[in-house]
Amino acid sequence: MSAIKDNDIFLRPKTLDEYIGQEKLKQNLSIYIGAAKHRKETLDHVLFYGPPGLGKTTLANIIGNEMGSKVVLASGPSIEKPCDLAGILSELEPNNILFIDEIHRLPHSVEEVLYSAMEDFKLSIIISRENSCKTLTIDLPPFTLVGATTKIGSLSSPLRARFGIIEKINFYKVEELAKIVERTASFYNFTIDKKSALEIAKRSRGTPRIANRIFKRVRDFAHYKNLKRITYEKTLESFENIGIDELGLDYVDIKYLDTLVNRFNCGPVGLDTLSSYIGEEPENIEQVYEPYLLKLGMIDKTIKGRIANKKAVEHLKTHNNC
Ligand code: ADE
Repeated sequence: MSAIKDNDIFLRPKTLDEYIGQEKLKQNLSIYIGAAKHRKETLDHVLFYGPPGLGKTTLANIIGNEMGSKVVLASGPSIEKPCDLAGILSELEPNNILFIDEIHRLPHSVEEVLYSAMEDFKLSIIISRENSCKTLTIDLPPFTLVGATTKIGSLSSPLRARFGIIEKINFYKVEELAKIVERTASFYNFTIDKKSALEIAKRSRGTPRIANRIFKRVRDFAHYKNLKRITYEKTLESFENIGIDELGLDYVDIKYLDTLVNRFNCGPVGLDTLSSYIGEEPENIEQVYEPYLLKLGMIDKTIKGRIANKKAVEHLKTHNNC
């Protein structure tokens, strides 16, 4: 297999037509992109928010492709100081797309530089020299900022207000994920039957990144037995080995539910307490595990803490050791 095939980037759809799911969002984006191109203007700044793995980076690259613009990639944690951002902004060319992943992690001092860059395409930096300060303002070429965040609530209101297009990325439907798995299989020249693709989709927590990851592991199990195609039996056997149940819950989810239900009598329990019991970072619990458990209706977040619902209690009964 060639080196590039080990990298998921080649799987990513390049156009809105190729992109499966998020129908309303695609429709809106296609209108905004079409209108901006018609006016020969840059696209307004775009903010994507939602759980990880749903395609925020892919969509930023699609916007670049559809607009015929270069995409410059950056991430919130790597822009530590205003001068880091100034360096990135001063290198932009007209109509570039600047993608900032995890934009909620930008320090406040950096955000402030971003405000005038987004609003007037001006870069204002304060230079201190011999007990006095001077503001240096540089004109920037028009550009589109595409921000992505898993925590829209952590974004400051002034920053949020500067995005003209704000779109939520939702969990995918099972049928959409099955189509993504079939598309991925065809990229790898591998055959998978509809029933197996649907089974992978059902256990992928509404998330394409997880569906593609599971597909590759199931393919490993099939290859190991010299199978030329993925069968339903092989798929079920792989899930047993990987440790993902019929709802897509893994060891950490089950530990979370078990702690909440059996240790704390269904709650309410604070996030930090749960975190120390199950040995996962609070941030990880909030951004990776809880959104899907909430979606399944197994837990609720209340002011007093997390509580487990009847559905969680019933589901735990299907796991023998809980
Ligand atoms: N691969 C990952 N996400 C995808 C999507 N939404 N559509 C098509 N292929 C994908």
